[in-house]
Amino acid sequence: MRAIIDLGAAVIGSGFIGTVHIEALRRIGVRVQGLLGSSAERGSERAGRLGVPRAYASLDELLDDAQVDVVHVTSPNHLHYAQVKQILAAGRHVVCEKPLAMDSAQSGELVALVARSDRIAAVNFNIRFYPLNQHLREHIADGGLGDVRLVSGHYFQDWLLLETDWNWRLEPEQGGALRAVGDIGSHWLDLTGFVTGLRVREVMADLATFIPVRRQPTGPVETFSQERGTETVAREIRTEDMASILLRYEGGARGAVVISQLSAGRKNSLQYEIDGSSGAASWDSEDPDHLWIGHRERPNELLLRNPALMSEAGRRAAALPGGHVEGFADTFAALFRTIYADVARGEMSERPLYATFADGHEEMLIGDAVLESARSGRWTGISRTTEATGTSLEDART
Ligand SMILES: NC(=O)c1ccc[n+]([C@@H]2O[C@H](COP(=O)([O-])OP(=O)(O)OC[C@H]3O[C@@H](n4cnc5c(N)ncnc54)[C@H](O)[C@@H]3O)[C@@H](O)[C@H]2O)c1
Repeated sequence: MRAIIDLGAAVIGSGFIGTVHIEALRRIGVRVQGLLGSSAERGSERAGRLGVPRAYASLDELLDDAQVDVVHVTSPNHLHYAQVKQILAAGRHVVCEKPLAMDSAQSGELVALVARSDRIAAVNFNIRFYPLNQHLREHIADGGLGDVRLVSGHYFQDWLLLETDWNWRLEPEQGGALRAVGDIGSHWLDLTGFVTGLRVREVMADLATFIPVRRQPTGPVETFSQERGTETVAREIRTEDMASILLRYEGGARGAVVISQLSAGRKNSLQYEIDGSSGAASWDSEDPDHLWIGHRERPNELLLRNPALMSEAGRRAAALPGGHVEGFADTFAALFRTIYADVARGEMSERPLYATFADGHEEMLIGDAVLESARSGRWTGISRTTEATGTSLEDART
């Protein structure tokens, strides 16, 4: 058993989310050894700005650093697969941003690689680690809402509303064939599956692209950045701005989710409502310290996040007393604390609360079904046999 303060991490990518990783690692006491940028110059500049001691010139150089136990992959989606493979081959633990890979063949291969190794491998579905989501998961598992019958909600953002809004996610070669669904819908699907314990059996999906041509700035654009170059070129868009997905779960529950990156005024609203046979619950990421609990025969409740009033897992994820608002960046610290406890022990928990590669692969499989359903106009089942290995997902779960 090692102490968390004896563990070292390196971060690949230092854009929007790489910076959040670095700050959360520092907060839980893990040494950030260095970072790898898109180029040596950019890496050095970011390392200087963030006070990170080292900027590596390449992934080989990063993996030569014996002080690095865990590598965090926060590069654009198309780089995840090759980088994760190289990290696992070098015997390091890995925390990969979502989506795990570009397609389910790649993610299936990564699941099989991890199953054959003794490394800790996690996917950064951080939204699970808002304390009230951890609390609700235990409440539902304890029968607090009765049998779950309906899971509904949305994930809305507005940062791609205008034709002049640009990001690498718009290009399928960098982001993947699904954009809104892969980028943010995957969070909703992972979270609601985590909280309810339900698995999707089949989907019926409708995808829409309302902005078929966008203006791409000729210079680089960072995620959520407000800076815009004046020079642009017209680019055809082949990924969806919005999706409506009906869900049928194993066991008979039903669901419906709407995903959009064109919803004016909604900056980052992941909302769900879970209706059970004896009660309901609802939560929104833009108001993450409140959980609505619905009753038929007594007044509804509004639970303000409070370690004194939450379940054990909710308490563990919380860093601050009630009334001292926790938010997005705090979920990274709570998630990393859980992952690094396993790293320190040297083995993965039997049923980790964080998303494993099998969970990351699950989102890719649902994505396959969403694409196929949108293409065919039919209900489409989730195919849970990993092509790369021929093993079932259950077999591959670590
Ligand atoms: N969990 C979450 O809530 C969350 C939120 C945002 C993004 N993400 C995920 O994180 C990843 C990055 O997204 P982002 O919004 O930070 O994008 P970003 O564009 O802000 O940052 C990506 C960074 O990767 C760097 N990069 C590009 N090529 C590289 C290479 N070859 N080697 C090393 N670094 C390279 C870029 O220079 C940039 O700094 C994506 O996979 C995205 O889906 C997750």
